[in-house]
Amino acid sequence: MTAPLKHSDMAVVEVALENRAYDIVIGRGALASLGARIAALRPGVRTAVVTDKTVARHWLEATEASLAGAGIPTSRIIVEEGEGSKSYAGLEKVSEALIAAKIERNDLVIALGGGVVGDLAGFAAAILRRGVDFVQVPTSLLAQVDSSVGGKTGINSPQGKNLLGAFHQPVLVIADTAVLDTLSPRQFRAGYAEVAKYGALGDEAFFAWLEANHAELFKGGVAREHAIATSCRAKAAIVARDERETGDRALLNLGHTFGHALEAATGFSDRLFHGEGVAIGMVLAAQFSASLGMISPADAARLERHLVDVGLPTRLQEIAGFAQEGLADADALMSLMAQDKKVRRGKLTFILLEAIGRAVIARDVEPTRVRDFLKDRLKA
Ligand SMILES: NC(=O)c1ccc[n+]([C@@H]2O[C@H](COP(=O)([O-])OP(=O)(O)OC[C@H]3O[C@@H](n4cnc5c(N)ncnc54)[C@H](O)[C@@H]3O)[C@@H](O)[C@H]2O)c1
Ligand SMILES: [Zn+2]
Repeated sequence: MTAPLKHSDMAVVEVALENRAYDIVIGRGALASLGARIAALRPGVRTAVVTDKTVARHWLEATEASLAGAGIPTSRIIVEEGEGSKSYAGLEKVSEALIAAKIERNDLVIALGGGVVGDLAGFAAAILRRGVDFVQVPTSLLAQVDSSVGGKTGINSPQGKNLLGAFHQPVLVIADTAVLDTLSPRQFRAGYAEVAKYGALGDEAFFAWLEANHAELFKGGVAREHAIATSCRAKAAIVARDERETGDRALLNLGHTFGHALEAATGFSDRLFHGEGVAIGMVLAAQFSASLGMISPADAARLERHLVDVGLPTRLQEIAGFAQEGLADADALMSLMAQDKKVRRGKLTFILLEAIGRAVIARDVEPTRVRDFLKDRLKA
């Protein structure tokens, strides 16, 4: 935790990865500085902006104006919005457009959008001419606090989410908090689950601060910048320690083993946004931890209360159509979890909580304990 920001400040968080270190610039109006920052970083560079239709409507002009103001040539590549673009077809479209735009080894790809555009454009940059640098301009809350930082890029396979990809770090991240004003309230709330996650997994003081300041954060006051900067700082610290997720980085998956199973069960549809699955997943992880005698039931309830306060779902029963489909079935959820990447030799890896602000990696959770717990929750 650091002192709250004043509105006029731009916060800069460094991701300390030696010769691949980069800055995350956070603040209201930061987008206007994109061109000048790129010109300083890469004099003479050409760029291509990859974005989706909705984000283009709101923010492409401002992005292009900033680049033009710094004399940076650019072209635009606009994909359909939504997860469907994170596909072979989407990758082909973006890659071919980048080649047609004559983006060469020393040029820059700019990803302007949410996590879908960031993952897709980042992956296209990673493989274009064996690797072209890229800049992230995240426009969803989820992208500002999570997906734009840390270098995971990729697309989905018909057989599963994020199964194709590369670690490719951006050279700069510009998180303009004003851009979030056009995001739908439900998308904003879903992204907030990841913000709360940083408090829950490693920073009790931040969690308490969120409990007190979440309303201002949603309204777009200075609390928003502070929360995004604190989240980025938390992620940057973990990524700097463990870029390739051989250890600590797995802590960022708090709530995600349960959450991914729920997303898969609802077909990655609008019925459950990623962050909503994470919110329910975090509460399940806390309750499961409590059932193992780790976190106190009072702390588990505190986590749930905060997520309820901001309007996030926290119970399986809140998922649309939950009772009608196979979802309300512990065995079906177990087999979805077994397909996740977090399984080794029949044992599940879970991020469990000892307290708010203290998560641990449990690599050998017995599936039967999880199944019994889920059966219990499904009755609740
Ligand atoms: N690489 C990583 O480390 C990482 C981490 C977490 C999630 N992800 C990926 O991120 C994706 C989800 O990201 P997301 O939630 O940002 O989804 P998204 O990119 O689909 O954006 C959500 C919706 O909001 C719209 N939108 C975005 N910014 C907007 C703005 N400023 N104003 C109006 N509308 C706006 C988009 O058009 C889209 O319809 C998933 O594919 C997930 O796998 C990646
Ligand atoms: Zn997530």
